[in-house]
This record gives sequence, C-alpha cells and structure tokens, in this order.
Amino acid sequence: MRRILVIGAKGMLGRDLIKVLYPTFHADKRSNWEILDWDVDEIDIQEEKRTVSKIESFRPEIIINVAAYTDVDGCELNEEKAFAVNAEGVKHVALGALRCGAKVVYLSTDYIFDGNKREPYLENDPPNPLNVYGRSKWKGEQYVQELVQDALIIRTEWLYGRYGRNFVTSILRQAREKKVLTIVNDQIGSPTYTVDLSEAISVLLQCDARGVFHVANSDLCTWYTFGQAILKLSGMERVKVIPISSKELGRPAIRPAYSVFNCQKLKQVTGMTLRPWSEALRDFLLLAGRKTD
Ligand SMILES: NC(=O)c1ccc[n+]([C@@H]2O[C@H](COP(=O)([O-])OP(=O)(O)OC[C@H]3O[C@@H](n4cnc5c(N)ncnc54)[C@H](OP(=O)(O)O)[C@@H]3O)[C@@H](O)[C@H]2O)c1
Repeated sequence: MRRILVIGAKGMLGRDLIKVLYPTFHADKRSNWEILDWDVDEIDIQEEKRTVSKIESFRPEIIINVAAYTDVDGCELNEEKAFAVNAEGVKHVALGALRCGAKVVYLSTDYIFDGNKREPYLENDPPNPLNVYGRSKWKGEQYVQELVQDALIIRTEWLYGRYGRNFVTSILRQAREKKVLTIVNDQIGSPTYTVDLSEAISVLLQCDARGVFHVANSDLCTWYTFGQAILKLSGMERVKVIPISSKELGRPAIRPAYSVFNCQKLKQVTGMTLRPWSEALRDFLLLAGRKTD
C-alpha cells in the first residue's frame, strides 16, 4: 500500500484537499494509494520525537504539510508559537520524511514577500517578510529546502473555502449584522479558492513536480473590491462599503501592499492556469447556497 499523508487535514485547505485527492488517488483501487488525514489530534508537529517516529512508522511516500498557525495577528503577538509550529514543526515533519524517504509538499505564503514590487512575484524573487507569520513560514520553507531533496513548495495567497473562517465568510456574516462595512483598499492580491488550489496541488503531484511554485486564482483586486464582489454576488448590495487604509484598520501585523503572483511556472509544468478569482467566487457562493445574479 502506498500512502499519502496530509498533515493539517482538518483545516480549511486540508478538508478540500482530501476531497480532491480522494477520487484521484485513494478511490482508484488499481493505484493502491491510501490517504491518511491527520491533524493536531493525530500529530502535534511541535513535538519532534513523536512527529518523527509516527511518520516513520506509517512510512508515507508523500507528505503534504498544510498544518500551520495561520492567525496572522496572533502570530505577531505570539512569536514563540508561530516559530514552534510554522518553522520548527515544519522541520520535524521534514525530519520524519527523511527517515522514510518521503517526498514533502509544503504550503507557503505570499507573506514571505514585502509587497514592494509592482509586478507579479516570481518564484525566485528575494523574500523579505514584513511580519512574524511571514518570517516563520519563510523559515519553514528554508528547513524544507535544506533537509529534503526535491521538495515541492507551493506558495499561495488570500485563501477562502467552505471549511474555515475567512474573508468571504466574515463579510457575509458582517453584512447580515450591519448596514455599513469598512474594508481595506490598499492591499492588492488574488483571492484563491481552496478547491481550485487543491486541484492544482493534485495535478502538481501527478506531474511529480519539484521546486517552488506560485499558485493563485487569476486576476487581482483589493480587499475592498473583493468585498464589493462578495456582496454583489450574494444579492446584498444594499450594504454600504467604505474603503479604508490598513493604517486605519490598525491590525497588529503589517501586511504586504502588493501580493500578486506570476503563475507562469505552474502553466509551463502542468498546462494549468487557475480561473479568475471572480469565477471561483461565484462557484463558491453558489455552492454555499447564496443568491447570485
Ligand atoms: N489562509 C490563507 O489565506 C493562506 C494564505 C497563504 C498560505 N496559506 C497556507 O496554507 C496552508 C493551509 O492554510 P489554512 O488556511 O487551511 O489553515 P487552517 O485552516 O488554519 O488549517 C491549518 C490546520 O493545521 C492545524 N494545526 C495547527 N497547529 C498544528 C500542530 N502543531 N500540529 C498539527 N496540526 C496543527 C490546525 O489545527 P487547529 O485549527 O486546531 O489549530 C488546522 O487544522 C498553511 O500552510 C498556510 O500557512 C494560507
């Protein structure tokens, strides 16, 4: 039996990823793949010995590590935990992978960049994270690169999906409670649907891709224009939206002003381009049972 181990399988991306991987790998009996869906209850990646020995005993062929401490402002206030999970935890998983010769797939973030560029970020652009979360994820990337030969590192951004708290669900909840919303209008990025990202991860695996890849839905927007689109597609245009600056919002962690990826490498290797974010959003809202125009 060949095994794919997903760590962080009960998180927002993890749950969609399992659903996408299952029919391609697990359900095809001829392929002989089994998918293990572990989260913090099955493996706390902060614990080195247990992480390494548990991975070694199950001998997965592929480990997809989507586990992380993803509360960006929480990381800013608790640097120790951010590095314990996002850097040292990632190292422990990589050490486990080394013991059984597993391929590692690691999910990273646009927050490793400072956002000072004004054209889409390439995989080899120099990182310069602005906040603790970004620094901890960059350290995680470095551990993976140092310890595991031919790892696959997938950087993504602005995620939303069915199974977690995210910007889309937050806007929908606020719109039900308030007549006026304020949304940041000085950060640019590409909102990315976890189902689309999961499909890209699956295709990259099937291509046996190695190295660093940028993966995001196409086109760009600000959180403000994204928020407007969510309200429009949900039939809640009556809710007024006021654009504000990041400074006015006053979050503990600084965010990059420009988080757009160049995803040409993904296209070259897989032939795949993720659809525009607005199309993905429409599908997400339809699935969530929202009203669309
Ligand atoms: N969300 C985004 O916008 C975004 C953007 C770019 C990159 N990413 C990256 O994409 C990946 C998936 O993100 P996501 O949004 O799906 O995150 P998520 O919903 O927070 O899921 C992460 C999962 O990891 C688990 N976890 C936390 N600490 C752990 C530990 N010590 N040991 C084992 N599991 C642990 C979490 O459990 P608990 O919930 O119990 O803590 C959760 O189930 C992460 O690597 C993240 O850095 C996310």
